[in-house]
Amino acid sequence: MDKLIINGQKKLNGDVYISGAKNAALPILIASLLSKEELKLKNVPNLFDIKTTEKLLFAMGVEISKTDSSMTLIARDIKDLHATYDLVKTMRASILVLGPLLARFGSARVSLPGGCAIGSRPVDIHIKGLEAMGASIKIENGDIVASTSGLPEGKLVGAEISMSQVTVTGTENLMMAACLAKGKTKLKNSAKEPEVVDLGNCLIKMGAIIKGLGTDIITIEGVEELNGAEHSIIFDRIEAGTYMIAAAMTAGELRCIGIESGKMTSIINKLRETGVEIIESDNTVTVKSNGILKAVSIETSPFPGFPTDMQAQFMALNTIAEGVSEIKETIFENRFMHVQELIRMGADIEVNQNTAVVSGGKMLEGASVMATDLRASASLVLAALSAKGTTVIDRIYHLDRGYEDLEKKFNQIGAQIERVN
Ligand code: UD1
Repeated sequence: MDKLIINGQKKLNGDVYISGAKNAALPILIASLLSKEELKLKNVPNLFDIKTTEKLLFAMGVEISKTDSSMTLIARDIKDLHATYDLVKTMRASILVLGPLLARFGSARVSLPGGCAIGSRPVDIHIKGLEAMGASIKIENGDIVASTSGLPEGKLVGAEISMSQVTVTGTENLMMAACLAKGKTKLKNSAKEPEVVDLGNCLIKMGAIIKGLGTDIITIEGVEELNGAEHSIIFDRIEAGTYMIAAAMTAGELRCIGIESGKMTSIINKLRETGVEIIESDNTVTVKSNGILKAVSIETSPFPGFPTDMQAQFMALNTIAEGVSEIKETIFENRFMHVQELIRMGADIEVNQNTAVVSGGKMLEGASVMATDLRASASLVLAALSAKGTTVIDRIYHLDRGYEDLEKKFNQIGAQIERVN
């Protein structure tokens, strides 16, 4: 298993090119299942989760070719409508095949995702939504088995669906299913994340009729079939935010390139509150830090609120910033796995239910730590970059799931990170 060895306290300076968003690329690759024609994608990040998605789609019969960050997918002859446990357990987003398979082929079998490091993460809203569109769904041997048999022409039927909680992949699954359903679907309490909007825009290019993207209510008018399209994946706002915090924590100056700053306002505003200078321009955001940081309190919430996927990274920042901060996690019940590891590096953090109180102003010290989930791992990298001495981070496969060329990008701007086996 690979480890990262990080020598801290190096000032980061220079340019970083931000990759395509993992959370937009995953559903968009899976959207290829909705059409028999070619879906040509650009700006696809090279990540472990993308490889898992390719495996999943390939096993179903999707033809996939790629060069660098471009990928072409053709779901002409789909022979297998089953997403097996070995793939679903490594990537929960595999659940996203359920809607498209059911909508186009009238049947699907997807292993029920189990619990994961950051909480139980049920998929009941995905299931209830598809049932509202007429699907019959049962759980059989650990799989979700779904069918449209019994419905006119074996097709899902448009419905008005009120989701009990804002769910990103739930909204995406139902939006994809609704594209090929008979009639109109209204998705109430939809997720407004830029990645959901990017998927919607790609579906529109494929011929879907979708209105209300980026609002609480998305309406979809079902069509007979979708066609091929070309689409470029939006930038990864979480990757960008992580590099921006790295600049803040190392008294550095970084220019993140390939960003639409309007899609990460809550992150930028919080970072400004810490006292760093942030300059937004057309396609870039520059962060300048003198290393004097003020602690900031945070409460996670769905977009446009502060993203849960940036919570762990801000906690790392708060450990060294002056003052006491409160970090309240409202989306996932167990997303403080990084706390114990940060404490091992010298942080002062107390957790009470879903709130962590961070007493800042600490000088972190290198230690051997364990990555526990994707964003927790990112927070350990940030802590290590600002810490005195050497940190060894174990189980970094979590990082490879979501950060493209992490050590290469950091080393290009002055970090000292080595990957060892
Ligand atoms: C997506 C993102 C993940 C991010 C999360 C929240 C992808 C691939 N992953 O995950 O990076 O951290 O959004 O922004 O896009 N819930 C239910 N029932 C359901 C579905 C969700 O109770 O059927 C709950 C979850 O347990 C959680 C909340 O709703 O408490 C939000 O989860 P959700 O938005 O669905 O997260 P994901 O889509 O899995």
